[in-house]
Amino acid sequence: MTTTRPDGERGISALAQGHSAEATPLYGTTPPGGRDDLWRRLRERHGPIAPVELEPGAKAWILLDYHENLTVLQQPHLFSRDTRRWREVIEGRVDLARTLPMMSWLPSALFADGEEHHRLRAPIMDGVGGIDMSSMAGTVRGIADELVDSFVIRGEADLIEEFAAILPVLVINRLFGLADGYGHMLGDLTTTVFGEDAARAEEAVERMQQYFAGLVARKTEHPGPDLVTRMLEHRSGLSPSEVAYTAALIISAGHMPTTHLIGNTMRTLLTDERIHEAHTDARLSTHDLLDHVMWTDTPFQVLAGRIALQDMRIGSARIRSGDALFIGIDAAHRDPNVRVGHPDPDTGLASGRRAHLVFGAGPHSCPARSLGRLVASTGVNVLQERLGGLRLAVPPEELCVVNSPFLRGLRRLPVSFTPGRPSEPPAVQTRRMEQVAAPVEEEEPPEDLLGRLLRWWRGL
Ligand code: HEM
Repeated sequence: MTTTRPDGERGISALAQGHSAEATPLYGTTPPGGRDDLWRRLRERHGPIAPVELEPGAKAWILLDYHENLTVLQQPHLFSRDTRRWREVIEGRVDLARTLPMMSWLPSALFADGEEHHRLRAPIMDGVGGIDMSSMAGTVRGIADELVDSFVIRGEADLIEEFAAILPVLVINRLFGLADGYGHMLGDLTTTVFGEDAARAEEAVERMQQYFAGLVARKTEHPGPDLVTRMLEHRSGLSPSEVAYTAALIISAGHMPTTHLIGNTMRTLLTDERIHEAHTDARLSTHDLLDHVMWTDTPFQVLAGRIALQDMRIGSARIRSGDALFIGIDAAHRDPNVRVGHPDPDTGLASGRRAHLVFGAGPHSCPARSLGRLVASTGVNVLQERLGGLRLAVPPEELCVVNSPFLRGLRRLPVSFTPGRPSEPPAVQTRRMEQVAAPVEEEEPPEDLLGRLLRWWRGL
């Protein structure tokens, strides 16, 4: 395949010899301003695709231009999602089980191709497709209000830790048909898994394993009107262990991007006067605002790899069968050749542009984008409505970003506002991980694969 474009000579001839030694590390500390400058430098130097290292010695490519990223996402017959086909693994230089959590392989839809992918994805599609979005809107609103109730009287809060990181997990937990106590436990566990205390993170990983195995055991015994039961009963015939992986995939794929979409949108509103005004005057709808943020401050900046199934050229690079290619969403959105839509005369923003790659494209594209948008837009609206005089509590340059090659978001978003009153009914009681037992503990998690899923999750 050649994806050279009619816009002149680009790329560096060294790449024509295949993966060169000059691979740029994708690991390491994220600069406070994000990786924008890195994508620009890589594009100037290499053209639409650049050699990178995921860990010292683990080589891959990153796609930088919009067209190339879209092409790879949409051509599953040329690019596999099965990371076991990566040449670094086949030739023994990388052990998927031990290193590179994001390139790990698990028996879930995310890592499957063709018919097997269809079989594993169909229960998710049907389950999520069966959600009544108008009653879900009320559910999300209620959860968001309860979260705000828990800090509104203080006049200050961390909108990541106390809101954006919890709302998506509580919503997904409701889809699983469990009481909020379990959702708080799950949220607490995920926070601990991502946290910096290694000992507590290990404990949280173990509890998470119990959680998903227990959840499926419980739903097998007590079916209900929930997503897990629907997946267990789906005509695709998923085994209980496959349903456990799928439930874990849903929480891991749905949680963090929604958190960072809320966080990045709130940061934009709090730091960009023009956008704040346009949103407050209703010239910029919340959905158009989310699209703007998804273009400019995307919660997923890189998606994990596709594996080339044959030799090919992309730009001036020679790709060999078995090479891994990473989807450079943030880089694609900064492609100087991308021109989508016309600027809105009121806001100056190209609003309504939905061609961003934040929900992926092709067969693996997000099956729950409407839900993700609903949770994020409701979260942003509730914060705007309930917190009068909302402002940043620290200078914008002091906001810390998450240290991840894959996610783009904030670790904390400290704000202050005019103290308000809780809505009725009274504030939710947050239950901590130590106080809530896993749903059912007698069933052991299947082999060590769930542990690998959680390592992969942590790798985000
Ligand atoms: C704003 C929020 C969200 C964003 C930005 C997002 C983005 C994405 C992207 C980019 C992919 C494709 C991954 C790939 O091709 O490698 C994906 C897949 C997926 N997402 Fe979402 N997502 C969001 C919310 C959710 C939610 C709320 C759920 C579940 C309730 C969810 C469930 C999934 C699942 C199960 C997949 C795997 C699909 C497959 O491999 O066939 N996502 N998402």
